Amino acid sequence: MIRVGILTASDKGSRGEREDRSAVVISDAVRHIDGNVAAYKIVPDERELIAAALREMADDLALDLIFTTGGTGFSPRDVTPEATLAVVERLVPGIPEAIRAESMKITPRAMLTRGTAGIRGKTLIINLPGSPKAVAECLDVILQALPHGIEILK
Ligand code: MTE
Repeated sequence: MIRVGILTASDKGSRGEREDRSAVVISDAVRHIDGNVAAYKIVPDERELIAAALREMADDLALDLIFTTGGTGFSPRDVTPEATLAVVERLVPGIPEAIRAESMKITPRAMLTRGTAGIRGKTLIINLPGSPKAVAECLDVILQALPHGIEILK
């Protein structure tokens, strides 16, 4: 069983003005890798709030895997990659490389996600874009490789 956290970064979502369909896509998809969503949080697009939530999920809850969704684009409010880079200790460049390379076959706009991935302690943190469609496509690319990486991390 892989213990998964979902962190949604969305100003509108955090104010209850938008349904979080992307989180549902993630929780459905992780069942395919025996994943269990042990924590879910939605925060506004604030660097410190995103970083604090990531630290809590990694350090206090000791989750194996955290997916963020949202805040990876070019809007001045999009700061999820920066918050992630502030908390990870080691980068995992192959994951965003694979996401962007495969997603480019679907839409050239895939190059507009600045998402990153890295490791904090024994927790793998992966940024996904915000839309449910993009989330599903990105998970399709990476999911099958993750159990082996998480196994090695333990
Ligand atoms: N990746 C995939 N696979 N499919 C998509 O539709 N949308 C792109 C990109 N990555 C997309 C994608 C678009 S339009 C943007 S603006 C960026 O992700 C950033 O999205 P975000 O700001 O919601 O994080």
